Amino acid sequence: MYPGDGIGPEVTDAAVAVLTAVQKKSKTFDLAFERFDWGMPHFERHGRVAPEDFLATLRGFDAVFLGAVGWPARLPDHITLTPLIRLRQAFDLYACVRPARTFKGVHGPLRSEEPIDLVVVRENSEGEYVDNGGALAVNTPNEVALQTAVHTRRGVERILRFSFELARTRRRRLAMITKSNAQRYAYVLWDRLLVEIAAEFEDIAVEKLHIDAATLELVRRPHTFDVVVGSNLFGDILSDLTGGITGSLGLNPSANLNPERRFPSLFEPVHGSAPDIAGKGIANPTAAVLSAAMMLDWLGEASTATLVRTAVDRALAAGNLTPDVGGTLTTTQMTDAIVQQFE
Ligand code: NAD
Ligand code: IPM
Ligand code: MN
Repeated sequence: MYPGDGIGPEVTDAAVAVLTAVQKKSKTFDLAFERFDWGMPHFERHGRVAPEDFLATLRGFDAVFLGAVGWPARLPDHITLTPLIRLRQAFDLYACVRPARTFKGVHGPLRSEEPIDLVVVRENSEGEYVDNGGALAVNTPNEVALQTAVHTRRGVERILRFSFELARTRRRRLAMITKSNAQRYAYVLWDRLLVEIAAEFEDIAVEKLHIDAATLELVRRPHTFDVVVGSNLFGDILSDLTGGITGSLGLNPSANLNPERRFPSLFEPVHGSAPDIAGKGIANPTAAVLSAAMMLDWLGEASTATLVRTAVDRALAAGNLTPDVGGTLTTTQMTDAIVQQFE
């Protein structure tokens, strides 16, 4: 566990409380946690956000659970967030799965109340997030910054295949998001590979959207989307949007998967450390709890994961709501409301 900064530790505690309670109920497994207090406090003591060998430390675990990282007022984000991005890339966690759905009892900002149930699949190992660039003439009027994305045939093919397979387990619709009308190397590669791979999945209905149109259509007709796949940056942007349209970013979980299981996978809410509400005890723990459910699924405990999701659904439907979704509950009260569903 890497609880991190801001509300990270608050929502991680909630997820652990729910896991501990559901474990007592299901008795099918024995979960042991080790907690690593990396992040801002570690930086203040040791001058690094995480120890140099943090990847070797995590390598031996079955899964990694992360709360959230970042505290921009105290340390620039590109420093605090480096371990997270390194973790995703070094462990080849190339499939970032970010489900977003509506819940009974939670009203979203959209006029239509038609249920939303989609999954953003984000390419998580390359694209716009590779550490590839440089700077010239820094702090002069002639300053130049270069940041070059990397899209590989192997990388795009495997995330498209993963997304098609996922669509097969759902409503058999796939939307691919690019910006190939303007970026004529990278996203045109995505377009070509989509045609190639779609031929292997003729049972899946495919649509293609540019990122600008996708943001519009996700607001206008979100219920028509099933699996939405895009590059690292587009997947990041879209998963905040899908959090917004389903009611709150505090509801959306994620899994960063190495589908071949050569490395431990990483589970974390989509949201960040929310400095605006940190320490107030009002963060919505739902995203973290549902991320824990995704972790249980990945660890082969599907029926226990279902127990957790059902408990969340019931707690929300019964009107247990934190302030981000219009309620007054604290993080602890919301967590208790979920735990009570197991009793
Ligand atoms: P954020 O996701 O932390 O917050 C955006 C908004 O959503 C805020 O108003 C916040 O209060 C609200 N919110 C988020 N999670 C919530 C929850 N569980 N319950 C209730 N409300 C919630 O995004 P930001 O403010 O842009 O970023 C804050 C910091 O987090 C930055 O340092 C950023 O880089 C970092 N960040 C980290 C991660 C991560 O750890 N995976 C993800 C996104 C952002
Ligand atoms: C996310 C976050 C991260 C990302 C940041 C914190 C680097 O926004 O997990 O969505 O952009 O991947
Ligand atoms: Mn993000």
